[in-house]
Amino acid sequence: MIRHLRSSTLAALAVTLVLVVAAAAQAPTQAPSKPLDVPYVPTHETIVEAMLEVAKVGKNDILYDLGSGDGRIVVTAAKKYGTRGTGIDLDPVRIAEANENAKKAGVTHLVKFIQGDIFDATFSDATVVTMYLLPDVNLKLRPKILALKPGTRIVSHNYDMGDWKPLRSLNINVSDTPHQVYFWTVPARQ
Ligand SMILES: C[S@@+](CC[C@H](N)C(=O)[O-])C[C@H]1O[C@@H](n2cnc3c(N)ncnc32)[C@H](O)[C@@H]1O
Repeated sequence: MIRHLRSSTLAALAVTLVLVVAAAAQAPTQAPSKPLDVPYVPTHETIVEAMLEVAKVGKNDILYDLGSGDGRIVVTAAKKYGTRGTGIDLDPVRIAEANENAKKAGVTHLVKFIQGDIFDATFSDATVVTMYLLPDVNLKLRPKILALKPGTRIVSHNYDMGDWKPLRSLNINVSDTPHQVYFWTVPARQ
Protein backbone atom coordinates (compact mmCIF):
# COMPACT_ATOMS: atom_id res chain seq x y z
CA MET A 1 0.00 0.00 0.00
CA ILE A 2 2.78 2.42 1.05
CA ARG A 3 4.69 1.49 -2.06
CA HIS A 4 1.53 2.09 -4.13
CA LEU A 5 0.97 5.52 -2.52
CA ARG A 6 4.55 6.50 -3.09
CA SER A 7 4.49 5.64 -6.76
CA SER A 8 1.17 7.45 -7.33
CA THR A 9 2.49 10.51 -5.47
CA LEU A 10 5.63 10.42 -7.57
CA ALA A 11 3.57 10.14 -10.74
CA ALA A 12 1.41 13.12 -9.69
CA LEU A 13 4.54 15.15 -8.93
CA ALA A 14 6.04 14.26 -12.30
CA VAL A 15 2.86 15.32 -14.12
CA THR A 16 2.76 18.61 -12.15
CA LEU A 17 6.39 19.26 -13.00
CA VAL A 18 5.79 18.64 -16.70
CA LEU A 19 2.77 21.01 -16.66
CA VAL A 20 4.71 23.75 -14.85
CA VAL A 21 7.65 23.50 -17.28
CA ALA A 22 5.29 23.55 -20.28
CA ALA A 23 3.42 26.60 -18.94
CA ALA A 24 6.70 28.44 -18.27
CA ALA A 25 7.88 27.73 -21.80
CA GLN A 26 4.68 29.21 -23.27
CA ALA A 27 4.38 32.29 -21.02
CA PRO A 28 5.63 35.58 -22.54
CA THR A 29 8.80 37.01 -21.03
CA GLN A 30 7.59 39.43 -18.40
CA ALA A 31 10.50 41.85 -18.62
CA PRO A 32 11.68 44.07 -21.48
CA SER A 33 14.89 42.89 -23.16
CA LYS A 34 16.61 46.24 -22.33
CA PRO A 35 15.74 49.24 -20.15
CA LEU A 36 12.86 51.30 -21.53
CA ASP A 37 13.84 54.58 -23.19
CA VAL A 38 10.49 56.05 -22.14
CA PRO A 39 8.27 55.10 -19.20
CA TYR A 40 4.71 53.99 -19.85
CA VAL A 41 2.24 56.86 -19.67
CA PRO A 42 -0.92 56.35 -21.73
CA THR A 43 -2.21 59.13 -23.98
CA HIS A 44 -5.63 60.39 -22.87
CA GLU A 45 -8.38 59.38 -25.32
CA THR A 46 -9.11 63.08 -26.06
CA ILE A 47 -5.53 63.48 -27.26
CA VAL A 48 -5.66 60.19 -29.19
CA GLU A 49 -8.68 61.54 -31.10
CA ALA A 50 -6.90 64.85 -31.77
CA MET A 51 -3.76 63.06 -33.02
CA LEU A 52 -5.78 60.93 -35.47
CA GLU A 53 -7.81 63.93 -36.63
CA VAL A 54 -4.83 66.21 -37.26
CA ALA A 55 -3.25 63.47 -39.41
CA LYS A 56 -6.59 62.87 -41.20
CA VAL A 57 -6.16 59.14 -40.69
CA GLY A 58 -8.32 57.00 -42.96
CA LYS A 59 -8.94 53.45 -44.06
CA ASN A 60 -6.20 53.50 -46.70
CA ASP A 61 -3.51 54.43 -44.18
CA ILE A 62 -0.86 52.23 -42.62
CA LEU A 63 -0.26 53.55 -39.14
CA TYR A 64 2.60 52.74 -36.79
CA ASP A 65 2.67 53.78 -33.14
CA LEU A 66 6.26 53.79 -31.89
CA GLY A 67 6.16 52.71 -28.25
CA SER A 68 2.52 51.61 -28.46
CA GLY A 69 1.72 50.99 -24.78
CA ASP A 70 -1.69 49.37 -24.38
CA GLY A 71 -2.32 49.88 -28.12
CA ARG A 72 -4.94 52.61 -27.74
CA ILE A 73 -3.80 54.75 -30.72
CA VAL A 74 -3.63 51.81 -33.13
CA VAL A 75 -6.87 50.27 -31.81
CA THR A 76 -8.80 53.58 -31.91
CA ALA A 77 -7.65 54.27 -35.49
CA ALA A 78 -8.77 50.78 -36.55
CA LYS A 79 -12.10 50.99 -34.77
CA LYS A 80 -13.01 54.55 -35.78
CA TYR A 81 -11.48 54.78 -39.28
CA GLY A 82 -10.79 51.19 -40.36
CA THR A 83 -7.05 51.94 -40.43
CA ARG A 84 -4.53 49.10 -40.55
CA GLY A 85 -1.94 49.60 -37.85
CA THR A 86 1.06 48.20 -36.06
CA GLY A 87 2.20 48.98 -32.55
CA ILE A 88 5.79 48.40 -31.48
CA ASP A 89 6.70 48.21 -27.81
CA LEU A 90 9.64 46.81 -25.90
CA ASP A 91 7.53 45.77 -22.93
CA PRO A 92 5.82 42.36 -23.27
CA VAL A 93 3.24 43.34 -20.65
CA ARG A 94 2.12 46.24 -22.86
CA ILE A 95 2.01 43.96 -25.92
CA ALA A 96 -0.25 41.52 -24.07
CA GLU A 97 -2.54 44.40 -23.00
CA ALA A 98 -2.65 45.77 -26.56
CA ASN A 99 -3.59 42.37 -28.01
CA GLU A 100 -6.32 42.05 -25.41
CA ASN A 101 -7.64 45.56 -26.22
CA ALA A 102 -7.62 44.79 -29.96
CA LYS A 103 -9.67 41.66 -29.25
CA LYS A 104 -12.16 43.58 -27.09
CA ALA A 105 -12.54 46.23 -29.83
CA GLY A 106 -12.98 43.57 -32.55
CA VAL A 107 -10.11 44.89 -34.69
CA THR A 108 -7.60 42.01 -34.62
CA HIS A 109 -7.97 41.68 -38.43
CA LEU A 110 -6.61 45.24 -38.84
CA VAL A 111 -3.88 45.54 -36.22
CA LYS A 112 -0.82 43.81 -34.90
CA PHE A 113 1.55 44.42 -32.01
CA ILE A 114 5.23 43.61 -32.18
CA GLN A 115 7.49 43.27 -29.17
CA GLY A 116 10.67 45.06 -30.17
CA ASP A 117 12.89 48.10 -30.00
CA ILE A 118 11.72 51.13 -31.99
CA PHE A 119 15.34 51.84 -32.94
CA ASP A 120 15.65 48.43 -34.66
CA ALA A 121 12.13 48.33 -36.10
CA THR A 122 11.25 48.66 -39.79
CA PHE A 123 8.28 50.88 -40.53
CA SER A 124 9.12 52.06 -44.05
CA ASP A 125 5.61 51.19 -45.34
CA ALA A 126 4.03 53.68 -42.90
CA THR A 127 1.78 56.45 -44.18
CA VAL A 128 1.23 57.73 -40.62
CA VAL A 129 3.55 57.47 -37.61
CA THR A 130 2.40 58.39 -34.13
CA MET A 131 4.46 58.65 -30.97
CA TYR A 132 4.45 59.73 -27.37
CA LEU A 133 8.10 59.45 -26.41
CA LEU A 134 10.58 62.01 -25.06
CA PRO A 135 12.46 64.92 -26.68
CA ASP A 136 15.82 63.12 -26.91
CA VAL A 137 14.16 59.94 -28.20
CA ASN A 138 12.32 61.94 -30.90
CA LEU A 139 15.63 63.48 -31.97
CA LYS A 140 17.33 60.09 -32.07
CA LEU A 141 14.51 58.77 -34.28
CA ARG A 142 14.44 61.83 -36.52
CA PRO A 143 16.87 60.57 -39.21
CA LYS A 144 14.85 57.34 -39.54
CA ILE A 145 11.62 59.33 -39.77
CA LEU A 146 13.02 61.76 -42.35
CA ALA A 147 14.03 58.72 -44.46
CA LEU A 148 10.37 57.59 -44.71
CA LYS A 149 8.37 58.14 -47.92
CA PRO A 150 7.88 61.86 -48.61
CA GLY A 151 4.38 62.84 -47.49
CA THR A 152 4.29 60.38 -44.56
CA ARG A 153 2.40 62.10 -41.74
CA ILE A 154 4.04 62.23 -38.32
CA VAL A 155 2.19 63.08 -35.10
CA SER A 156 3.81 63.47 -31.70
CA HIS A 157 2.15 63.91 -28.34
CA ASN A 158 3.87 66.62 -26.28
CA TYR A 159 7.37 66.56 -27.77
CA ASP A 160 8.71 68.25 -30.87
CA MET A 161 11.57 67.44 -33.24
CA GLY A 162 14.01 70.20 -32.38
CA ASP A 163 14.59 72.51 -35.35
CA TRP A 164 12.28 70.52 -37.67
CA LYS A 165 9.32 72.87 -37.39
CA PRO A 166 5.84 71.29 -37.31
CA LEU A 167 3.19 72.19 -39.89
CA ARG A 168 0.65 72.32 -37.10
CA SER A 169 0.79 72.40 -33.35
CA LEU A 170 -2.27 72.09 -31.13
CA ASN A 171 -2.66 72.98 -27.47
CA ILE A 172 -5.26 70.89 -25.71
CA ASN A 173 -6.18 70.98 -22.03
CA VAL A 174 -7.19 67.73 -20.38
CA SER A 175 -8.30 68.08 -16.73
CA ASP A 176 -6.46 71.41 -16.53
CA THR A 177 -3.23 69.88 -17.80
CA PRO A 178 -1.93 71.38 -21.04
CA HIS A 179 -0.90 68.94 -23.80
CA GLN A 180 0.65 69.62 -27.19
CA VAL A 181 0.13 67.72 -30.41
CA TYR A 182 2.68 68.29 -33.19
CA PHE A 183 2.16 67.40 -36.84
CA TRP A 184 4.70 67.15 -39.67
CA THR A 185 4.88 65.57 -43.10
CA VAL A 186 8.12 64.03 -44.34
CA PRO A 187 9.51 66.47 -46.92
CA ALA A 188 10.63 65.52 -50.42
CA ARG A 189 14.35 64.58 -50.60
CA GLN A 190 16.61 67.52 -51.48
C1 LIG B 1 4.67 57.29 -23.00
S1 LIG B 1 4.29 55.62 -23.41
C2 LIG B 1 3.21 55.87 -24.81
C3 LIG B 1 2.24 54.72 -25.03
C4 LIG B 1 1.25 54.92 -26.19
N1 LIG B 1 1.94 55.26 -27.41
C5 LIG B 1 0.27 56.01 -25.87
O1 LIG B 1 0.45 57.12 -26.42
O2 LIG B 1 -0.66 55.77 -25.08
C6 LIG B 1 5.83 55.08 -24.17
C7 LIG B 1 5.90 53.60 -24.51
O3 LIG B 1 7.15 53.36 -25.15
C8 LIG B 1 7.62 52.07 -24.78
N2 LIG B 1 9.07 52.05 -25.03
C9 LIG B 1 10.04 52.65 -24.32
N3 LIG B 1 11.24 52.47 -24.89
C10 LIG B 1 11.02 51.72 -26.02
C11 LIG B 1 11.85 51.20 -27.05
N4 LIG B 1 13.18 51.43 -27.09
N5 LIG B 1 11.28 50.47 -28.04
C12 LIG B 1 9.93 50.22 -28.04
N6 LIG B 1 9.10 50.71 -27.08
C13 LIG B 1 9.62 51.44 -26.10
C14 LIG B 1 7.19 51.93 -23.34
O4 LIG B 1 7.10 50.58 -22.95
C15 LIG B 1 5.84 52.65 -23.32
O5 LIG B 1 4.78 51.73 -23.51
